[in-house]
Order: sequence, then structure tokens, then C-alpha cells
Amino acid sequence: MNKTIAILVAGGASVVAGAASAQNLNFICSADQAVCERLVSEFEGSHDIDVNMVRLSSGEAYAKLRAEARNPQTDLWWGGTGDPHLQAASDDLTEEYQSPMLEELQPWAVQQAETSGHRTVGVYSGALGWGYNTEILSEKGVEPPRCWDDLLDPALAGEIQIADPNSSGTAYTALATLVQLMGEDEAFEYLKELDANVSQYTKSGSAPVKAAARGESGLGIVFMHDAVAQAEEGFPIEVVAPCEGTGYEIGSMSLIAGAQNEEEAKTFYDWVLTAEVQSILPEAGSFQIPSNKNAEAPEAAPDLSEIKLIDYDFAEYGGTERRSELLSRWDSEVGGVGN
Ligand code: G6P
Repeated sequence: MNKTIAILVAGGASVVAGAASAQNLNFICSADQAVCERLVSEFEGSHDIDVNMVRLSSGEAYAKLRAEARNPQTDLWWGGTGDPHLQAASDDLTEEYQSPMLEELQPWAVQQAETSGHRTVGVYSGALGWGYNTEILSEKGVEPPRCWDDLLDPALAGEIQIADPNSSGTAYTALATLVQLMGEDEAFEYLKELDANVSQYTKSGSAPVKAAARGESGLGIVFMHDAVAQAEEGFPIEVVAPCEGTGYEIGSMSLIAGAQNEEEAKTFYDWVLTAEVQSILPEAGSFQIPSNKNAEAPEAAPDLSEIKLIDYDFAEYGGTERRSELLSRWDSEVGGVGN
């Protein structure tokens, strides 16, 4: 809780003089709600710092940081795909910080830090794919799709959900992955065709597979670990790594430039990179690969070495120009045209 002091001034008006306690942290979390809540309760349980957390999808978080750039209301941004974190870094919205924990991190997490001039760092990683509801597809007599190309099967009309890449880092990863796999024009042709099978572009990246798990649709294009989370909960979800190859995320964390609670943000930053904390997260349904080399990857986490991964160009697709250009093309050719 923010302890504020109201001072009565002459004339009876009252004004807020500011926070009495310095022990606060304003935190944006872009992973799943349950994971975000678990992080906050673990942190508050072991520190004398109150956390004000808001869960925002990666693109929404970036937009918020941009909007409040002159008067930052956020101290730390944890989780969500790396591309908007890189874009925030290149826009100087985030602060350079080299955590003492860097030496315990996987090379891909350090690489993310180096790409951004240490304005962001990798916290987890996971590959893109989809999860389908085995019961719905078998009732419809549809062959389970194994490849990107299979998703264009007219038998899947209205059965696919994917998020909107403006709000969701997951969906932006899908867009950038297809561009890197096929070439830009071909990827947009593909997305226009896929649109015929898409019933909804959701705000959050993992929502499509949650809908498939509940039987509201047949298939969600999501990070594979989000599909695993539903399968682990007992829903009839089968997880697929696309046969042509796929992209992946380096989920990231950034300290906000001009943060009002910089010390508290650094305390959280160093803490959340420890093996101990990263090893707890699977209990909250987080099945990504952790960035700390000593953290245990959850048993159910998709093994990235067994998946055909593209050489995702994070510097290019996290760059301001490329990301903005792809999103406006998506708006004009896919998302904004109605379906
Ligand atoms: C889920 C995944 C994370 C990912 C995040 C992105 O929470 O588990 O690995 O970083 O989605 O969320 P968004 O809503 O931006 O797609």
C-alpha cells in the first residue's frame, strides 16, 4: 500500500504531499497472470517492498511506457516477448543495467542484453507453435495440422484463434517468424488466407489455447509452453512444433528509464534472475526454459533442441522501424479488413 500524507493547507483544501514510504515497486508483468501473481507474492514475502503490479501484453506494455515516457509511472517490466523490450531499449525508454547475476545466465539471455546495450536481459525462452483440441478435431474429422501450411485447410474454418500482434508479443513473434520463414510478401499472402480460418484475434497471446482447452475453438497459435500448460492441467490439448520450422521468444526484463523506485527495481531484477526464483515458476504454470543456467527447466517444457528453430533475427525484428512497418502492414492487410 502506498502511504501518502495529506496536508491541510490554508483554506481547507487538501493536497497529497507524496509517498512517505520509499519501499514501493511499480511493476508491469507480461507473462501469464498466475505467474505474475506468484512472483509478486514470493517477492513481497521475502522483501519489505510493496509491489503494484499490472499485467499487460507485451505490445500494450511497450505502448504504456511510450505514453508515460516524460513522467514514468513504471519502475520495472518483467516478461513478455523480447522484441518490444528491444524496441523500448532503442527508444531509450529503458535504463542500462548490468546485474551481478549476468554471469549465471544462458548465452541467449546475455546475447539479448548485449543486443540492447544492456537495457534488457533474457529471463526465459520458448518456441512458437500451437495447441489443438483433440476432441474437437476428431469430431470434425480433421487431420491434426502438423505444418504451417496445414492451418490453411478449409476444414479448419472458424476453428483457429491467434492474438493481435499489436497488443500481443506472441502474435508479433508469429508474424515475424512467418516473414523470416517465407519472405514478407508471401507471409502476408499466407496470413490473408489464414484469416479465413481465424474466428478471433485476441488481445493476449495465450488466450487462443485457453479457448481451445475449454472447447470454444479448435486450435490456438501460441507459444508451445502455453499449450503445455493447458495439457498439464488436464485439458485435451495436443502440442505441435510446426514442420517447416518455427520462431521463438527470448522473454525479457527491462528497468525503466527515470524509474521513481530504481533501487527497489534493481533488487527485484537481481532476485528474479536467481536459480531459486526461476525454479519456482513452473509451479505457477510457467513451462518456459529459464535463463539462469542453474535453474531447473520444468520436465514438461518443450525441448528446444528437438524443435526446428529458425535463426530469429532479434535485432532486426525488435527494431523500431521493422516492428512498426510490419504492424501497420498487418493492420491494413489482415487485421483491419474484418472477418
Ligand atoms: C505468455 C507466455 C510468455 C509470453 C507472453 C507474451 O504469457 O507464457 O512466454 O512471453 O505470453 O504475452 P503476450 O500477451 O504479449 O503475447
